[in-house]
Amino acid sequence: MTEITDAWVKAVELPEPGNMMETHENREHVFVRQGTNMARTIHEAIETYTGKPITDQRILDFGCGVGRVAMPLYHFFRKPDVCVDVDPKAIRYLRPQIPDVACRVTKFDPPLPFRDRAFDVVFSVSIWTHLNAESAEAWLTEITRILRPGGYAFLTTSSYTMLQLRRSHFVTANLGWDKVTDDMLREQGFIFLETPSAPGTGTYGLASHDPEYIRREWSRHMDVVDILPGAILGGQDMNVLRKRA
Ligand SMILES: C[S@@+](CC[C@H](N)C(=O)[O-])C[C@H]1O[C@@H](n2cnc3c(N)ncnc32)[C@H](O)[C@@H]1O
Repeated sequence: MTEITDAWVKAVELPEPGNMMETHENREHVFVRQGTNMARTIHEAIETYTGKPITDQRILDFGCGVGRVAMPLYHFFRKPDVCVDVDPKAIRYLRPQIPDVACRVTKFDPPLPFRDRAFDVVFSVSIWTHLNAESAEAWLTEITRILRPGGYAFLTTSSYTMLQLRRSHFVTANLGWDKVTDDMLREQGFIFLETPSAPGTGTYGLASHDPEYIRREWSRHMDVVDILPGAILGGQDMNVLRKRA
């Protein structure tokens, strides 16, 4: 199996620190480490669950940002095929870094400009962690539409580890997370608090999902095949979903 290393860094011009902030990380070495680690996790998950090499599949990175995951995957596998984000600045930066990938600016709300069943795999890191209930639901419907039957989605969410961090970090604590207990998340299943200075054109904020809620609610859209706790960034859960045939 190809080993994903930090070697991709030499092939790109790293984003300006201000632009890296789109991923909440403006220190270069952390950006690179996170990118390499997340690309390893996504690559392994794609091949494990689909049972096929990543190179044989048509793949979308939904909410790619400045390509923290897409750049290493591109360097080692020439994947994903398509990257989308609502942020034109991020897409403008990313295009020349991964020239064979179709990088597109898309709208905050569905639909995406792709036909039904266009992709074998969609992955999305740190997007459902920011969507309110209505948006989250609309985007699950849309991702289901563009996946082929039997296709997989790998979508990250935040649960109890991140909740603890949000309670203790002064920025998120001040946004109201200091009052959100584990029991509240267990009882409500989903909690969203708006972030006032949010980027984008719609309601934006921070969301927490209880894994049981995901098994119950998201299975209305697709089969919830697995939930890998803390698989991404040491704190976000990775939800493995498969579109029903
Ligand atoms: C925390 S960043 C994660 C970026 C990237 N996935 C990564 O891990 O580096 C969240 C990204 O989601 C994008 N985004 C938010 N809402 C979106 C939507 N409705 N459609 C597409 N992108 C969206 C933002 O512009 C931002 O780049």
